[in-house]
Amino acid sequence: MKRRETNGGPYGDVTRLRAGGSVLVIVLAALVLAAGCRGPAAPGLTEAPRIGGPFSLVDQSGARVDQRLLLGRWSAVYFGYTVCPDVCTTTLSALGAAQVRLGADARRFQVVFITIDPLRDTPRQLRDYLLSPSFPRPIVGLTGSPDEIAAVAHAYGVYYRRAGKGADYAMDHTSIVYLMNPAGRFDRPLPQGDPAAIAQQIRRAMSGE
Ligand code: NI
Repeated sequence: MKRRETNGGPYGDVTRLRAGGSVLVIVLAALVLAAGCRGPAAPGLTEAPRIGGPFSLVDQSGARVDQRLLLGRWSAVYFGYTVCPDVCTTTLSALGAAQVRLGADARRFQVVFITIDPLRDTPRQLRDYLLSPSFPRPIVGLTGSPDEIAAVAHAYGVYYRRAGKGADYAMDHTSIVYLMNPAGRFDRPLPQGDPAAIAQQIRRAMSGE
C-alpha cells in the first residue's frame, strides 16, 4: 500500500529526474538556436567548457597576430561572418552601444570579431565591414586559413557550417559573446541585444563581481 502512495512506483523519482534533465537540455539547445544566425546547438554545451586558447590569425590590416592581443584589456570575442544577414551586425552594434555606456571604462575594453567564413572574409573585407559607425572602437577583425579558423573555433567551442550552395551561401554558426579578462582567460558570456545589460555585465566583471 505504501508503494502506491508514491504515485508512480519505485521508479517515479528516477523518471522525473530524467524528464527534468531532458527539459534542461532542450532549453539550452533552444537558447543556442535562438541566438544563432540559423545556428544549430553547439555540441558539448552541457559539459564544463574550457574556452579559449592560443591562436595565430591575421587582422584586418593584414598583420599576423596571436592570443597576446587579448592581454591587458577586457575583450568581447565573437565569431561570425561579414555577409551574415542580421545576427552578426546586430550583435556588434549592441556591443558598440554597450561600449558607449562604459564611459571611461571603455578604454579597458575591446571587441574581437573572428570570421568563420575565411574564404570570403579576407582582411580587406573585414576592414570594410568593421568600419560601420555603429560598431565598437577599437574592434579587431581576424581571419586566417580554413585550418586556422577551425582551430580557434574549436578552442572556443564554436560550431559553424556552410549552408547552401553557390556564391551566396550562408553560414550556420554559434552566436555567443565571450568576455575574456585582461589575462586572456574566459570570464563569462555576455548577454546579446540589450546594451544596458551588456554594459552592466562588463562593469561587474571589471569590478570582480
Ligand atoms: Ni551571423
